[in-house]
Amino acid sequence: MWTIGPRRAPRDAVRRQPVVRPQGDPYGPVIPERDADTAPRVDDHCGLRHYLRIVTVIATESLSKRFPRVTALDRLSVDVGPGVTGLVGANGAGKSTLIKILLGLSPATEGRAEVLGLDVATKGGDIRERVGYMPEHDCLPPDVSATEFVVHMARMSGLPPTAARERTADTLRHVGLYEERYRPIGGYSTGMKQRVKLAQALVHDPQLVFLDEPTNGLDPVGRDEMLGLIRRIHTDFGISVLVTSHLLGELERTCDHVVVVDGGKLLRSSSTTDFTQSTAILAIEVTDTDEHPDGTRAVRDVLHARGIDTHDGSGLPGAGHILLLTAEGEETYDVVRDVVADLGLGLVRMEQRRHHISEVFKDSDEQALQGGDEQRKEAVGHGG
Ligand SMILES: Nc1ncnc2c1ncn2[C@@H]1O[C@H](COP(=O)(O)OP(=O)(O)OP(=O)(O)O)[C@@H](O)[C@H]1O
Ligand SMILES: [Mg+2]
Repeated sequence: MWTIGPRRAPRDAVRRQPVVRPQGDPYGPVIPERDADTAPRVDDHCGLRHYLRIVTVIATESLSKRFPRVTALDRLSVDVGPGVTGLVGANGAGKSTLIKILLGLSPATEGRAEVLGLDVATKGGDIRERVGYMPEHDCLPPDVSATEFVVHMARMSGLPPTAARERTADTLRHVGLYEERYRPIGGYSTGMKQRVKLAQALVHDPQLVFLDEPTNGLDPVGRDEMLGLIRRIHTDFGISVLVTSHLLGELERTCDHVVVVDGGKLLRSSSTTDFTQSTAILAIEVTDTDEHPDGTRAVRDVLHARGIDTHDGSGLPGAGHILLLTAEGEETYDVVRDVVADLGLGLVRMEQRRHHISEVFKDSDEQALQGGDEQRKEAVGHGG
């Protein structure tokens, strides 16, 4: 059965839709659409805009959760602002445990946490009024339709019957399930079930949603569609999102900010731009020619002569034909293009590699070893 219990929607839940952002500020507060024309431009309120950007949506302070045999969270201190935030970690890193504590469903062993300024230890009910939750595991009743289920969840959240039906129709349309909404959920594909779970998390117009592994079980196209939907939750409705995943690569494109946890500890918390800049690895693949029967080797030799280090991509599909190098900036792309052209080779691809979470752990491991940072070494030691 559903684990989050009855939720009551904020009193203005229905009136708050639809909303838009003030002209010219993607980070600004959402405002009712009817006021959009008369709302002052954000440029007039630079001080206010600055203030809004630093508001904290989630804050934890030395948060720990210990089970008899395992420490799921270990003195985790992190602040999360508005927008879309990715919570990345391997299996068992503590992601779901953190979400359950933030919802006030599971008490922390020690430390503190606040969600939307509310203490999780004492204000769990208030938090669940304002927050939507998409659980990790399949938990849908098979013999009712998406409409019946989502209307039921909306009613549990306190929406009156008519508003619950209207919001359900809108939300199911948003997640792309409008055509199939009257079919029993038991006959849905995994992708459709994930969309129902997403719809019930959004139906009561929360200020924040926790999405636990929303791309689980989806094929590449389904993943891309789900990630697009998640991005739109924030851009179209102004709802902040905390989304978990094993894959840093898939969150890089969707999230403003990424938090990496490992063995219950914070490994890293930074904006996506910082993340990708500091881990930008280019994968290069070239053709061979009669003059250069091993084109990859020829490119590598010239790059080495110019002082650019490369790796051979061992362990990757196509290893031996792929060169990996760290992009220092835009210039690196130009250098590679020129080297390949000068050698008369064809450039099959030059792309920024999508990173797997284990690579972040590996980088951090190396840094920890170099810097002698004991705490980090310990964290990486738990890595998956
Ligand atoms: N109720 C529980 N009793 C005992 N141990 C638990 C319990 N819940 C979680 N754990 C343990 O806490 C650790 C963190 O689990 P959690 O489910 O938070 O990880 P996760 O990051 O969500 O992993 P996954 O990616 O597999 O969902 C794991 O070692 C898990 O076995
Ligand atoms: Mg989990």
